[in-house]
Amino acid sequence: MKIGIVGATGEVGRTMIKVLEERGHDFDEFKLFSSERSAGTVLSFNSKTIKVEKLTEEAMKEGFDYLLFSAGKEISKKFAPIAASHGSTVIDNSSAFRMNPDIPLVVPEINSNVLKGYHGIVANPNCSTIQLVLVLNPLHILYKLKRIIITTMQAVSGSGRKGMNELDSEITKNSDPTVYPKKIAFNCIPQIGPFCENGFSEEEMKMLNETRKIMNCTCDVEATAVRVPVMYGHSESVYVEFERSFSLEEAKEILRNAPSVKVWEDYPTALEVVGSDLSHVGRIRISYDGKALLFWNVADNVRVGAATNAVKILEHFLK
Ligand SMILES: NC(=O)c1ccc[n+]([C@@H]2O[C@H](COP(=O)([O-])OP(=O)(O)OC[C@H]3O[C@@H](n4cnc5c(N)ncnc54)[C@H](OP(=O)(O)O)[C@@H]3O)[C@@H](O)[C@H]2O)c1
Repeated sequence: MKIGIVGATGEVGRTMIKVLEERGHDFDEFKLFSSERSAGTVLSFNSKTIKVEKLTEEAMKEGFDYLLFSAGKEISKKFAPIAASHGSTVIDNSSAFRMNPDIPLVVPEINSNVLKGYHGIVANPNCSTIQLVLVLNPLHILYKLKRIIITTMQAVSGSGRKGMNELDSEITKNSDPTVYPKKIAFNCIPQIGPFCENGFSEEEMKMLNETRKIMNCTCDVEATAVRVPVMYGHSESVYVEFERSFSLEEAKEILRNAPSVKVWEDYPTALEVVGSDLSHVGRIRISYDGKALLFWNVADNVRVGAATNAVKILEHFLK
């Protein structure tokens, strides 16, 4: 079995290596790729050392069984089709192919059925969407989702290493922002990605479009995505209306039995879920008019929202 990771030196890439190791994987050939900047870096996997190679078109033509891509949209757009056309199955973490109707967008707990007999590029959803749909899907199956109003509070690691460096240097050196539009230290920024014509940001539109595609539904998702000065862990405040009637106790019981979900009697916080592969839920309650369920949802964005989901897609193929 020949496997590769593109973007292996990044936040997500390094976590993919860790998750593969934790879940007991080993491969005959395991190659790691980065840009020229980090080429030559030595990383370890199952006590073996692997030298990171510079990503090239030639390398992508070698023919891998599976390649995990996590080096940003432009790199995926250029290199993933080359790899796929040379026989590799690509699991891509970027937004490059997510809304392409011919490319599956997968959260294995929900829609791994779309992978049956499929080879080529598979898209991994956006981090804030994965943790949300893990909680919503089991409720949707019973009650049918109608409308979701959500505010996300997203960690700086969602922007990779550069986001974490920016928060750190604003705190320690009071430096000016270069990654985010305004200061992130001791602040909250209600903008993630550029704004679209309708006033929603690109991140907010991803939550609508990707939720619909993964769950194959037409629900409305009205999101406000906020960047907050947290290193790891996205938090989400969620209000959900359903087509069918529901009860609080039954909804809680459904979530207690849902795959990759943990229900808290009180509430989880970002610091408490770092390193966890579950989507955590607390403060589950019903709106005053009895029509909606409200809850608080937190997950490790780099694991649940990226690396672990990609590894689970890989495991689905390996089964
Ligand atoms: N962080 C998250 O929570 C999260 C969640 C979901 C999806 N994603 C997506 O995952 C991808 C990576 O995110 P990240 O957080 O890991 O970013 P990151 O920490 O900035 O890492 C980026 C990785 O891409 C590599 N890279 C950059 N330019 C390259 C080039 N020209 N050629 C080859 N490799 C190149 C970097 O190599 P060097 O070390 O050489 O620079 C590094 O390995 C992005 O598409 C992001 O949107 C991230």
